[in-house]
Amino acid sequence: MIGTKGIVTAVNGNMVSVRFDGIVSMNEVGYVKVADKRLKSEVIRIRGEISQLQVFEITKGISIGDEVEFTGDMLSVELGPGLLGQVYDGLQNPLPQLAQATGFFLERGVYLDALPVSNMWQFTPKAKPGDKVERADTLGTVPEGSFTHRIMVPFNLFGSYTVSWIKPAGSYNIRETIAELKDEKGDAIPVTLSFRWPVKRAINCYEERLKPTEPMVTRVRLIDTFFPVARGGTYCIPGPFGAGKTVLQQITSRFADVDIVIVAACGERAGEVVETLKEFPELKDERTGRSLMERTIIICNTSSMPVAAREASVYTAVTLAEYYRQMSLNVLLLADSTSRWAQAMREMSGRLEEIPGEEAFPAYMESTIASFYERAGIVRLRDGGLGSVTIGGTVSPAGGNFEEPVTQATLKVVGAFHGLSRERSDARKFPAIHPLDSWSKYKGIIESEKVAYAHGFMRRSAEVEQMMKVVGEEGTSIEDYVIFLKGDLIDSVYFQQNSFDEVDAAVKPERQKYVFAKLLFILGSIFTFTDKNEARTWFNKLRQKFLDYNGSKWKSERFDTLETEIESAVKSQSKGLDKTAEKIIY
Ligand SMILES: Nc1ncnc2c1ncn2[C@@H]1O[C@H](COP(=O)(O)OP(=O)(O)OP(=O)(O)O)[C@@H](O)[C@H]1O
Ligand SMILES: [Mg+2]
Repeated sequence: MIGTKGIVTAVNGNMVSVRFDGIVSMNEVGYVKVADKRLKSEVIRIRGEISQLQVFEITKGISIGDEVEFTGDMLSVELGPGLLGQVYDGLQNPLPQLAQATGFFLERGVYLDALPVSNMWQFTPKAKPGDKVERADTLGTVPEGSFTHRIMVPFNLFGSYTVSWIKPAGSYNIRETIAELKDEKGDAIPVTLSFRWPVKRAINCYEERLKPTEPMVTRVRLIDTFFPVARGGTYCIPGPFGAGKTVLQQITSRFADVDIVIVAACGERAGEVVETLKEFPELKDERTGRSLMERTIIICNTSSMPVAAREASVYTAVTLAEYYRQMSLNVLLLADSTSRWAQAMREMSGRLEEIPGEEAFPAYMESTIASFYERAGIVRLRDGGLGSVTIGGTVSPAGGNFEEPVTQATLKVVGAFHGLSRERSDARKFPAIHPLDSWSKYKGIIESEKVAYAHGFMRRSAEVEQMMKVVGEEGTSIEDYVIFLKGDLIDSVYFQQNSFDEVDAAVKPERQKYVFAKLLFILGSIFTFTDKNEARTWFNKLRQKFLDYNGSKWKSERFDTLETEIESAVKSQSKGLDKTAEKIIY
């Protein structure tokens, strides 16, 4: 079939208007031909015989009358073995290879194979001739790093099929036909190790969606204990410029208890992205002892690439995440930053001259953001297995104002909110997640009444601190002052976590629970001091010991010694527990 052709009638930044002859559909891919190059574009509006396309490349040189070829295909990605460890741009071009092919100033109009064609994969068939299969059913497997990659019936094959033949165990590349299916009409459909899927359509080959209940441990205390994230859930990290959004996501990508991590660096500074790229292959995944990169995919659109590609990178990332979920794996998708994506939406909407909503963002921004986060979820697959996609996105509101539209739209749909505070990052209290403003709807690793008790302390402590600013330390009662000191203790030894300390950077749930119990005992203890000076000195000493305790290896000799010292200090000062503490501790 010959595709529809068109002619450029106007160019406006990254958007071109095209008069076409034939049939064109929304989100279809078209190529604008300029000189000897073909620039990838996507149809974003159709009005009569004129369509608007967003061009994923720099539009320099495009002029009126240039030819456009429509492909009839939606913007899609290739799914198959070999995705893990890759660094892609938003259009799934492998960036290292692209740089090799065109030099460091990436040339436009060059599109490479997303998956290495020369790789041979050790295939083991699971289905046999005569088997009845549906989309996403497993035909066989290949090993990919430490995972068993399922070779599935392509997701776009709706209806039921019969396996005509399947290749025996052996090594094949992604272009070889490894099986043939027969549809109900008797037509033969060849299947290879890979297939394509449109990025804007959620992959929904599962039996049912479940409620996210199990915590996805990040090893960041403030998250796991106080503002937990569930497997298959969603969360957002809004924070002003430089408050630690990217660092927090990097820590999470290393330590989160998931199988696969997909990082979508969207509109971030190139330098930061390069840093991640250099660091990752050298880091070890402690579960497998192999390079962390083997279970990671990075989709990277730096701020210097055209804005339209930002949108593509977000959708590409979530589609890859859903693909691995179909293999009964737990996937974490980290998007940094969704504000840059929203800005790209705003820019395009402006070019389309749509009626602007708040702060000139398009009115549909809210539903676009919602439908992106809705692609997260824990699902029961048809074979009974579970798989999950968890999505965490950063938001960078101008001036750190959380009332702005992107933060507000995100807050409506996510299950947890980790708001970073300028005040805390300026004071170098990291992670700068605000302990009072943040929230989570998910269940964490510690009983909720214990967490609520500690959180209540934090609130009271903050109130006392505010009051002290007005009336001074002298005007504060010793009881209130002790509350303030207790709050200050949890903040220093539990909320803050030193990401550069080998031990403290990542704390396993077992240790979090153990240490939290010690802390709860201190919070619940009734202490009497003769004066504030004595109280302050005592708490200062305790805090220092606790910090050393946090820095010592779990259950090491030093850990035990410090614990004994902390316990005896607390015991000799405590006059028993308050009533609430007694109830929740015992
Ligand atoms: N957990 C942490 N521990 C120690 N230092 C940190 C931590 N988080 C952030 N920082 C410090 O803050 C700096 C800025 O952090 P980061 O780049 O993550 O901010 P950001 O919110 O992503 O900024 P931007 O809005 O510019 O993207 C880091 O370079 C580092 O010095
Ligand atoms: Mg950042």
